[in-house]
Amino acid sequence: MTIATTKTVGEIAAEVPGSTREFEKLGIDYCCGGSQTLGEACAQAKIPVDEALDRLKQGAAAASKTASTEDWKSKPVADLIAHINATHHVFVRSECSRILALAEKVVGVHGKNHPELLQVQEQFAALSEELSLHLMKEEQILFPYVIRMEESVLAGEPAPPAMFGTVMNPIGMMMQEHDGAGDALRSLRVITHDYKLPDDACASYRALYEALQGFEADLHQHIHKENNILFPRVAAMERAH
Ligand SMILES: [Fe+2]
Ligand SMILES: [Fe+2]
Repeated sequence: MTIATTKTVGEIAAEVPGSTREFEKLGIDYCCGGSQTLGEACAQAKIPVDEALDRLKQGAAAASKTASTEDWKSKPVADLIAHINATHHVFVRSECSRILALAEKVVGVHGKNHPELLQVQEQFAALSEELSLHLMKEEQILFPYVIRMEESVLAGEPAPPAMFGTVMNPIGMMMQEHDGAGDALRSLRVITHDYKLPDDACASYRALYEALQGFEADLHQHIHKENNILFPRVAAMERAH
């Protein structure tokens, strides 16, 4: 497999199996920063391009041996949306309440010795509130419209009327909100020194940091599927319609 360094990170994430896992390990932002080329992203992360290419090739070889990844670039857009709702949206909702409860508990016990925990709690609460509104906008406005749009394309009918003009308007807004969530995750990493546990951390402290890292990994995948696969497909569908 040849991977061009002039391709964007988002394109590689959508095309090369296993690449998102490798990007995650290399600290390359493939969701919100997906419009950078691989060359640019490597320069920014201070990683030699050859090393990144090797890792991507190895990752692709390993991924092809394990369970096949669903090809969301060719399945109906409605299926991708159903998948995003049933997995990532459900996960965000259940994890937000679990993490908020964990943070409350850990701040109560360790907040005095570790004041940064209060910042973690505050910033996560703000992120959770923003995400709750974000999911609602996708589920109630954007996604139903996109599903109707795909149905009309398949039926050879004109696109349904939209209250927001071109579909690129709500997509632009969602992408801006994704950037905001990406920034919040980065800031949590800075505050927690990459989720490094202090010596006096208890089991709940550990559970909180693990949950936050799991939340981050899932949100990266979630935003990647929307920014790099779903939204470009919707844009192409609108252009062709
Ligand atoms: Fe979403
Ligand atoms: Fe989203």
